[in-house]
Amino acid sequence: MTMKDTSFELEAGGSTAGSVNVSSRRDFTRRSVQALLTISLLDHLCATNLLAAEAKLSAEKWLNEVNQIGLDMKGEKVQETEWQSRIEDLLQNRIDLSQLLRLIDFERIEKTTKFVDNGARSIRPRFPKLEGVPDRLVFGQQVFALKKGRSVVPHGHNNMATAFMILKGNFHGRHYDRVADEKEHMIIKPTIDAKFGPGKTSSISDVKDNVHWFKAEDEPAFIFNIHVFGLNPGSGKRTSRVYVDPLGEKLDDGLIRARLIDSKEAHQRYG
Ligand SMILES: [Fe+2]
Repeated sequence: MTMKDTSFELEAGGSTAGSVNVSSRRDFTRRSVQALLTISLLDHLCATNLLAAEAKLSAEKWLNEVNQIGLDMKGEKVQETEWQSRIEDLLQNRIDLSQLLRLIDFERIEKTTKFVDNGARSIRPRFPKLEGVPDRLVFGQQVFALKKGRSVVPHGHNNMATAFMILKGNFHGRHYDRVADEKEHMIIKPTIDAKFGPGKTSSISDVKDNVHWFKAEDEPAFIFNIHVFGLNPGSGKRTSRVYVDPLGEKLDDGLIRARLIDSKEAHQRYG
C-alpha cells in the first residue's frame, strides 16, 4: 500500500468523525497518526530492503570499484581514512561472502593449503580474467591461513593501506594507532580489541589503526587481505611491515611503548 492510498482512506474516514465527541475525535486522530507512522515505517523498510538488494555488485563492478578507490588513494584524490571506510563497505556490503569465496577459488585454497605450526601461511589467489576488468590492478590480494592459537603477529606498516576480512573461523583481533616513532620503540594506543568472525572487516593506513594482531581461535581459520603499496613515496621509508611487541611499557593516556622487534622474535613471542 502506498502513502497516497493511505492518506485518501484516512481523509475519507475523517469526514464521518464530525458527529462524535471530542474524546472520540482525539482517539481517532491518535489512531490515524499511529497508522500513518506504521505505514511510513513499512514503506521505509521496503525501500531499505530494495536498496540493500541493489547494493550488491557484480564481480566485475566490485573489482573495478576496489581498483578505482585504490587509484584514487594513490592519486591523492581520496584520503587514506576514506579508503579505509570505503574498502570495508565494499567488502562487507557490496559483495556476498559466497561470491567473494568463488572469486578467489576458496574451495581450492582450503583443499591445498599446507598450514604452518607458527604464524600464518600466506597464499596469493588470482582473480579469473573478467571482461571489463583491467589485467593489472593497483591493489594486491592475499589469504592468510592459520591453525588454532596461531597469529598474524603484531606489526605496523609503512607506506601502505590494507584491509582484512575474515573468511572462515573466529579471531581475536587487535588494532593500535601508531602515535609516534622512537629509535627503538613505537608509541601505540589500542583502538580495536574484538572478536572477529566471518564477514567482519578492519583496515590499516599510515594514519589510522596502523598496527594489527590477529590470533586464530578456530582451526582452520582464514583471512582475506587487500593491500595497496607505495602510498607515501616521499616519506623516505620502504613499504614494509614493522614488527613490534605490543605488550610493552604502559604510559599515560592508555599509550604503550612497544619495542621494535624483528620477524623472528615476533613469531617466537606471538606466532
Ligand atoms: Fe599487516
